[in-house]
Amino acid sequence: MPAVHTVLGLETSCDETAAAVVRLAEGDAVSVLSSIVGSQVARHAPFGGVVPEIAARAHVESIDAIAAAALSEAGLGYGDLTGVAATAGPGLVGGVMVGLSFGKAVALARGLPLVAVNHLEGHAVSARLAAEIAYPFLLLLVSGGHCQLLTVEGVGRCRRLGSTIDDAAGEAFDKIAKSLGLPYPGGPALEALAVNGEAGAYPLPRMLLGRKDCDFSFSGLKTAAARLAEGLTTEGERRNLAAAVQSAIADQLCERTARAMGLHARDAGTRGLRFVVAGGVAANRHVRARLEATADAHGYGFFAPPLAYCTDNAAMIALAGAERLAAGLSDPLDAPARPRWPLDALAAAAQPTHKAGRKGAKA
Ligand code: KG4
Ligand code: ZN
Repeated sequence: MPAVHTVLGLETSCDETAAAVVRLAEGDAVSVLSSIVGSQVARHAPFGGVVPEIAARAHVESIDAIAAAALSEAGLGYGDLTGVAATAGPGLVGGVMVGLSFGKAVALARGLPLVAVNHLEGHAVSARLAAEIAYPFLLLLVSGGHCQLLTVEGVGRCRRLGSTIDDAAGEAFDKIAKSLGLPYPGGPALEALAVNGEAGAYPLPRMLLGRKDCDFSFSGLKTAAARLAEGLTTEGERRNLAAAVQSAIADQLCERTARAMGLHARDAGTRGLRFVVAGGVAANRHVRARLEATADAHGYGFFAPPLAYCTDNAAMIALAGAERLAAGLSDPLDAPARPRWPLDALAAAAQPTHKAGRKGAKA
């Protein structure tokens, strides 16, 4: 087993075709040698959201060039790698199959170990790309498909404290942005509109606040905001509603996180109190600042990935793969593509947030 792991990461679970090379040296020193993200936004924008089949076709067209660009930017060839890590789920399965099959082909051709990475595990380690963060830590994973609080004890060892019972936070941003007439992807557009808006101008529901668990719900906010959006006439009103929505989402994330900190602090004890927020919504400056204040108030160290590693990227997949290889873990070439793949399988089975036939967050 090499002491230094140089891993090609591949990410194709949604609408970014991404490849990266990450090196994990002894003592856990991480270097991102390259990280290329090929966005498909222009291909999906006319439809107002991601079209799975268009995504899968775009991945198969561009994965080879993007992987080659990642190696070239790292100044390496396939022969310099010690492993290959590909997202194997959860996500849009047509796209997942493209990246996973490409990764298997590289592993087979070069005799390299393959790691079939859980995309959520990638987000979980994403802040470690730029900062040393020891285990255990409390994780708020907030993206387009997920909204959950977890304690992360080590490589692949997560315990879920709570998750959304309907929409994910990013999904709420995207859907409300749509009702405000903003283009896809809605989260960043809503954040831009909210600048100089008056958050107190519109009363919006704060769902589940005060409940003892750590679950989230955004559907009531989505409905209330859509109704208000219909009656708006001026740009100032639109700005105010955007600011009110952003603030309502941040309130819920902070209140639930504070509750989880109470639970987590008891377990973490003397091992230190660290809080990590990751996923696309962690790119939102208001959300980040509010969560940082929550962490400060509860005696937690605050960590968030640099903006480029909040949204989907392959550097986080490469690092998750490298950490698994360093722990002696790899996967066979028949590793399945998994549309749903909870990080904490036991909690997901005990308290399913998805019943048969119900739509909702991917895991
Ligand atoms: O992590 P990600 O790239 O993909 C998933 O795994 O889902 O997250 C994408 C989500 C989208 O819902 C997007 O609107 C949201 O993250 N997002 C934001 C911002 N940037 C991305 N939401 C609010 N403010 C932002 N600046
Ligand atoms: Zn993601």
